[in-house]
Amino acid sequence: MDSHSPLLDDGQLHELISQLNITVLYKHDRGNMGDVLVGLHRSYGKVILKALTKRLRSNIRFHMRWERELYATTLLSNYTLVPQIFSSGLEPYPWFIQEFISDQSLERFLKGDCHKLPVDKPVRRNMLLQLLDIVGTAARHGFVHRDIRPDNIVVDKFLRPYLIDWGVVARVRTNELVKATDSTPLTKIFSGERLTEPSRCHGVIGYIAPEQSSAYYDMPSIKNDIYSLVLVAIEVLTGTGLFNGKEDEEILAIQMKLKDPDQLLELHPTLFDVFPPEIHRFLLADTARRNQDLEQLRTILLHL
Ligand SMILES: Nc1ncnc2c1ncn2[C@@H]1O[C@H](COP(=O)(O)OP(=O)(O)O)[C@@H](O)[C@H]1O
Ligand SMILES: [Mg+2]
Repeated sequence: MDSHSPLLDDGQLHELISQLNITVLYKHDRGNMGDVLVGLHRSYGKVILKALTKRLRSNIRFHMRWERELYATTLLSNYTLVPQIFSSGLEPYPWFIQEFISDQSLERFLKGDCHKLPVDKPVRRNMLLQLLDIVGTAARHGFVHRDIRPDNIVVDKFLRPYLIDWGVVARVRTNELVKATDSTPLTKIFSGERLTEPSRCHGVIGYIAPEQSSAYYDMPSIKNDIYSLVLVAIEVLTGTGLFNGKEDEEILAIQMKLKDPDQLLELHPTLFDVFPPEIHRFLLADTARRNQDLEQLRTILLHL
């Protein structure tokens, strides 16, 4: 770190980095809840250090969100493509050190910032099928991610997708995995969670389902992740996102009105060159009518 590094402005973070014996290579300039640094660790090699950002350190709600992210990632990393947590702590504020996957997110791929994704449909489809597996496994263990979008998908050199950033994860039911490790305060950590809180929207409009953007008391379930997966699949397989270039309010208005395939064609004129019209059933605003079946989505992808 050079003497002009912005990290030095944050004494606590600087102290943490030296205690952990990490040589910082660079800092991700994004970061909502956390500072995300890429560094070299003496035992683990190249790692990500994620630590609660200075602005939120005094806010208990963010400490709780942090704990949820940490527990969900730790539990799921044994079962699915979620990067492993090597070590973590709560002092002087919450942090963890995580396996570094690669510097290529799906977002960078789609924008052409790094290597382009191979154009062959089977390669892209295979990546999507692996994402479906991650979401299915997580849901079987009782977790929904709720923030699936290209920026939260890191792709390794074999084009395997890893789902990162479980910061707004929700626990949707108890299950074997959680029970098996229930000496942890998991029940407390995940209890009493609403999908959104007044005037707060978890996730990013354009990828999340409309009920997640606008409703206060909707119950999270795998439907949240399936909706986002369909939007990611459209972007990956057609090269164009369904809501590309649109403002949040316009996106929400379109999502709320979406009823039939023709409306999708208006948004994305070449969509049905790749997808069958029945894909619209996964994007209906009305959750009672929306297709929420991961296996049916898998079948559609397999037949493209
Ligand atoms: N394990 C990882 N391996 C490689 N890159 C990562 C990893 N975790 C995070 N990143 C990169 O850092 C960025 C921010 O991390 P993320 O966990 O999404 O934090 P935030 O909550 O700030 O969005 C990601 O978009 C990704 O590019
Ligand atoms: Mg993120």
